[in-house]
Amino acid sequence: PSARTFYDEVGGEETFRRLVQRFYAAVRTDPVLQPMYPQDDWEGAETRLRGFLVQYWGGPTTYSEQRGHPRLRMRHAPFAIGPVERDAWLTHMRDAVDSLELPPEQDATLWGYLEMAARSMQNR
Ligand code: HEM
Repeated sequence: PSARTFYDEVGGEETFRRLVQRFYAAVRTDPVLQPMYPQDDWEGAETRLRGFLVQYWGGPTTYSEQRGHPRLRMRHAPFAIGPVERDAWLTHMRDAVDSLELPPEQDATLWGYLEMAARSMQNR
């Protein structure tokens, strides 16, 4: 059997579904972030972010089967992401991570990555 992944440890698909659902519910009402997203494809946006995170943490690789190599910095280039956008994104993600009530060590692992990734996505 293959090694237990972080994805398994935090509760698998269900955990990432809750995380991303909660995150996008907030993004959809955020005056800074909402206009950046495809208004007719919120479900698709949710599927893409969830699929990416699932794959990143060792779950099924459906994301890359459907989208290819992530190349996230390149995919974010069309969006103007300055400190304000980055912090709005992180605020909603922090709230969504809190809602999972993970053990402190798992929370720190997940959050450390998300914070680093959000900084690296800033392009303005
Ligand atoms: C896509 C904004 C950070 C992962 C998108 C989209 C927007 C966006 C507007 C297009 C929605 C779509 O059609 O899928 C932002 C902003 C960020 C941010 C404002 C603030 C820093 C991040 C971070 C990650 C991430 C930190 C990963 C940990 C993704 C993924 C997609 C995406 C996987 C879909 C890529 C694709 O397959 O097309 N983001 N993003 N984003 N974002 Fe972000």
